Amino acid sequence: MLNNYKQTITNFFNRRTSYDYEGKGHPENAKRFLDFVTVKPGQIILDLCTGTGLVAITVAKTVGQQGSVIGVDMSPGMLTQAKTKIEAEGIKNLELIEADVESVDFNNEQFDRIFCCSALVYVSDIPTLLNKCYRWLKPGGYLAFTSSNKGSHLSEVRVRVCKDLFDIDLPHIIRPLWTAEKCTKLLQDSGFQNTKIEKHLFRREKINDNYRSTQIENEFYPRGNPLSNLSPVQKQLLQVEYIKAVDHLIAETGVWQEANNLYVKAWKSA
Ligand SMILES: C[S@@+](CC[C@H](N)C(=O)[O-])C[C@H]1O[C@@H](n2cnc3c(N)ncnc32)[C@H](O)[C@@H]1O
Repeated sequence: MLNNYKQTITNFFNRRTSYDYEGKGHPENAKRFLDFVTVKPGQIILDLCTGTGLVAITVAKTVGQQGSVIGVDMSPGMLTQAKTKIEAEGIKNLELIEADVESVDFNNEQFDRIFCCSALVYVSDIPTLLNKCYRWLKPGGYLAFTSSNKGSHLSEVRVRVCKDLFDIDLPHIIRPLWTAEKCTKLLQDSGFQNTKIEKHLFRREKINDNYRSTQIENEFYPRGNPLSNLSPVQKQLLQVEYIKAVDHLIAETGVWQEANNLYVKAWKSA
């Protein structure tokens, strides 16, 4: 049974029935991630939050019949899209598990690589999941994931407006992973020895009008929603001030939204 937050995430992804075709962003990011990691024939791989299999399917082809891949995701809608592609391509060494990655368990030292592309920020208790990943990895294996760098996305504006208006410290969804230093510290706390982190500009684009309909109190808050106690009037004020702040940015800079991604690898010592 998923909690409310996880059910909201699951519904959000279930609705995205053509995920691979929502512009070029997802396939391009998965491809960059695949270029960042190395996979060899015969390896055993775990792909957390596998979605439509953009990473897992390519990896399954690379590890070949001597190797295998497990993909875990809690959205049946995303997994259905993965299954369609797996069947069409006749892939036999990729197992999909419908589950919350925070509830699954595997054997100690089972995997050569563990991947989590464009998803770790959704996890409620990241340190506990990193501890498990460390335990599931073989010595010499590594975990790789992506995250968005600080300065990306309009959520930073929401954080500022909430602070200014109500002195509320809005937990920006990417905050735990939004700098290379934060990622490194979290990984070291879970026992990982070496880390390698690259930053790439993911996209820079003109802001579209979607921010006008964003309901800030309904955004994702994996670690608790501090806006749930605001009155309807306060919520309305928040929306108005947020739109004003974004309008101001647009007037100032025209093209503004810039998303930088961090590509992170962390090894368990051999
Ligand atoms: C942005 S998509 C990324 C999918 C894929 N890794 C990729 O690179 O295309 C995020 C995925 O994470 C999944 N997800 C988020 N939180 C999860 C959790 N706690 N357990 C399992 N899946 C989760 C969602 O269902 C969704 O499919």
